[in-house]
Amino acid sequence: VEPPKLIVPKVEIEDEVDDGKKKVTVFFGTQTGTAEGFAKAFAEEAKARYEKAKFRVVDLDDYAAEDEEYEAKFKKESFAFFFLATYGDGEPTDNAARFYKWFSEGEEKGDWLNKLQYGVFGLGNRQYEHFNKIAKVVDDGLADQGAKRIVEVGMGDDDQCIEDDFTAWRELVWPELDKLLLDEDDTSAATPYTAAVLEYRVVVYDQLDTATLDRSLSTQNGHTVHDAQHPCRSSVAAKKELHKPASDRSCIHLEFDISHTGLAYETGDHVGVYCENLVEIVEEAEKLLGMQPNTYFSVHIDDEDGTPLTGGSLPPPFPPCTVRSALAKYADLLSSPKKSALLALAAHASDPTEADRLRLLASPAGKDEYAQWVVASHRSLLEVLAEFPSAKPPLGVFFASVAPRLQPRYYSISSSPRMVPSRIHVTCALVYEKTPTGRIHKGVCSTWMKNAVSLEESHDCSWAPIFVRQSNFKLPSDTKVPIIMIGPGTGLAPFRGFLQERQALKDAGAELGTAVLYFGCRNRNLDFIYEDELNKFVESGSISELIVAFSREGPTKEYVQHKMLQKASEIWNLISEGAYIYVCGDAKGMARDVHRMLHTIAQEQGALDSSKAESWVKNLQMTGRYLRDVW
Ligand code: 2AM
Repeated sequence: VEPPKLIVPKVEIEDEVDDGKKKVTVFFGTQTGTAEGFAKAFAEEAKARYEKAKFRVVDLDDYAAEDEEYEAKFKKESFAFFFLATYGDGEPTDNAARFYKWFSEGEEKGDWLNKLQYGVFGLGNRQYEHFNKIAKVVDDGLADQGAKRIVEVGMGDDDQCIEDDFTAWRELVWPELDKLLLDEDDTSAATPYTAAVLEYRVVVYDQLDTATLDRSLSTQNGHTVHDAQHPCRSSVAAKKELHKPASDRSCIHLEFDISHTGLAYETGDHVGVYCENLVEIVEEAEKLLGMQPNTYFSVHIDDEDGTPLTGGSLPPPFPPCTVRSALAKYADLLSSPKKSALLALAAHASDPTEADRLRLLASPAGKDEYAQWVVASHRSLLEVLAEFPSAKPPLGVFFASVAPRLQPRYYSISSSPRMVPSRIHVTCALVYEKTPTGRIHKGVCSTWMKNAVSLEESHDCSWAPIFVRQSNFKLPSDTKVPIIMIGPGTGLAPFRGFLQERQALKDAGAELGTAVLYFGCRNRNLDFIYEDELNKFVESGSISELIVAFSREGPTKEYVQHKMLQKASEIWNLISEGAYIYVCGDAKGMARDVHRMLHTIAQEQGALDSSKAESWVKNLQMTGRYLRDVW
């Protein structure tokens, strides 16, 4: 067995020869592939409409090897489109981070982009405070620097149907691009365009020549740098339940062994984990799709001669494996299918009534039904497959167009390398909930962790491909600077790492500043995770004050922000003395409410009016003293 090596073909971006054609560059900043898919779909349709223009799709990370190259390259662009996702606390995707930093923090350059015409489509979620922040900043920044907007910034909202937002935005783009890219006599734009169903070329191995296959795959990871494309196999060294026996929920403490892996981390980093679907889920998928579990196959994005298929807009292929293994590792079977997936299913449904209904659900006329029957009902891809038994897409279609790639899950690491250099600790709440259709939804990764077998239990223990993602969520470099940590529930995770680090520093003779921890849970007898450890940190002085809000012990809910209000003057004084403030946990509820509470505290304690209080909070953020790790 072998961790998935996701082979991502690198695009070489060469300066092209001038053939007189108008050139359009389509950039993407993508994390899970949606922005990339949109960028490619946009370029495909545009190519069909504007035969006399040239379109190329570019990963922002590949565009320029050095920051210095951005300026010269952008100066040569005449038409550009940007598909940019916003993540977490208003952050760019990893592949757009360098570009975004250069673009948003660079020096003023005046009207240097006045030859450029552009459009931006954002991918975000309205439930979050910084809805589409990256797209907005880039859109405004381009205009400020002289570029001309072809179309208003698109505000894709993943909380509803982001594919519809994309379609609507595209319809705004075409008439504007017609004016820019079509000659008077050109009629190509009048040809209606239908997106093709993407399909890998599949090779099935009849008689399994394992020796050949094994040689084609190296058993060593071979990479010195481990990232999402090059994860590293890591064993589960230890596992324990953190909730107390009376709790009907579950929160898992898991330890990955990273000795001899080359993986390294810092306190406050994240770990990305590639997990697998449960066997029962995989078996159901095999049954519904009529696939043979032991079929050994490979997927290819080029034909036998090496010519790329369909303009190269297929998702990256995965290593050869059995159907069972591919369904377990690479297919997201439990999310709701996208409209494009329904169209791919329709194309392979033998029953015309089923095909029609699938097409309707994916069409503008079926908008409300899709919103209700698929999105609001949290219908999984498997449930949809079960409703359309005649839809049996072949392997190449299923993995390219129906099931999105199963994504790694990210966790805030709950340990410090100063305390446990050879392990990465994870604190993970089990996702187990009933959906509106009555299905029990078991979160893919949390369920995998819950079921994991640790080395303490068996030598044949569970393992997963993992990698470390750096974060800015770091303790102040001066150990004497006071800190305030706010992390209810699993938001405690990175603070456990912080506290281990402080303990290790203290043991090594460092002098520690004040550290206040606000933790919240439902009831001390159910979900007060790491209670003993926290008390020990108090005893040893790593925590100066531990404040816990129990939300379901008394008649009224008490949350961390209520505790903060009770301690308003203390918080104000600590921050005035230079304290750093850290918040970790749920972005939509808790972090937003805590943010408001900080604002309130500033108004009350500092006698500031609302706008002054706001600038005070902003200033803390700008100077890196108010840090958030939220999801
Ligand atoms: P609840 O489940 O009783 O609503 C960890 O999840 C703790 O955070 C729980 O005690 C939970 O309370 C609480 N919590 C839920 N929503 C919150 C919010 N908006 N702000 C702060 N804490 C919250």
